[in-house]
Order: sequence, then structure tokens, then C-alpha cells
Amino acid sequence: MITQMISRIPVVYKYATGKKMNCLDFLRADHMRVELLFVQSKVVKDKKIKEKLIKKIVQNLNSHAQIEEEIFYPACEKISQLKPMILEAREEHHQFKILVDELDKLSIDDESLDAKLSVIIEDVMHHVRDEENDLFPKVGKAMSQNKLEKLGQQLQTRKVKEIEKAA
Ligand SMILES: [Fe+2]
Ligand SMILES: [Fe+2]
Repeated sequence: MITQMISRIPVVYKYATGKKMNCLDFLRADHMRVELLFVQSKVVKDKKIKEKLIKKIVQNLNSHAQIEEEIFYPACEKISQLKPMILEAREEHHQFKILVDELDKLSIDDESLDAKLSVIIEDVMHHVRDEENDLFPKVGKAMSQNKLEKLGQQLQTRKVKEIEKAA
């Protein structure tokens, strides 16, 4: 997980400096935000901090899935060769969102909390690897630079709304 994060530091730097970002870079940076929370959740000892981290994980996973399903996936589905991958990605979202909802309802003292969180992390990391290694390169070839940047802007605007809603 750490190696994957380090390889994407340039993407995050571009994001942080507010340069125009295409949708693939934006989604990679958003994946990395969640992965950092995953790493923190594995090492944190304090229960109150862990509780807050889990809330953040739930919010970030839900908002990420939401913006992909609303904006990114529909744009990909218009390209017929990508349709099967998107159908599978939607099923993977469906699967991990069930566990994320369950995690959200668990007490911090529940004995199944760590096990559920571990399964979510495994599922999400598998999904992220499929998107970044398989789907994104195909999308990058199939869409124009202009389209990729337009989608990037739409995703950014929508993500800000999601963050405000959760605050
Ligand atoms: Fe996804
Ligand atoms: Fe994603």
C-alpha cells in the first residue's frame, strides 16, 4: 500500500497546487486520501481517534463511490469496450458499500470491528488496483484530454459538495 502511495506523490502535489487536473489524476488522489486513512486506522491505539478515523473512512468511501457512480462511470459507459469493466466496478461498489454501512453502525467496542474494517480495506484496495491499473489507462486512451479535464472539474465540484454535506 505504501509503495503505491509514494508512486502517486506527484499527482497529489499537482492537486494541492490547484493545477487543472484530469479526472484520472483526481480519482488517484482521492484513492490515496482513503489509503492514508486506512494506514492510520491500522496503527492508531486511542479509541476516540479511531472512532473519528472510521467516520472519515465511511464518509470518504461513500463520497468517492458516489461521484464515480454519478459522473465518471456514466461517461465511461458511453465507450462500449469499457462497459463490462464498469458493470463489474459497480458490483464491487455495491459489495463494499454493504460492509461500509455495517461498519458505520458498529460500536467502537464491537469485537467484529477490526475484522470488518480489514475486509473493507482488502476489497477496496483490490477495486482501486483494478481501476488504476486496468480501467484508467483504457479511459486515458479512449477520451480526449479536454474530456478528461472536464470530467476532472465536475468530479472536484461534486466532491466539495459531498464534503460540505458531511460536515
Ligand atoms: Fe470505484
Ligand atoms: Fe475509485
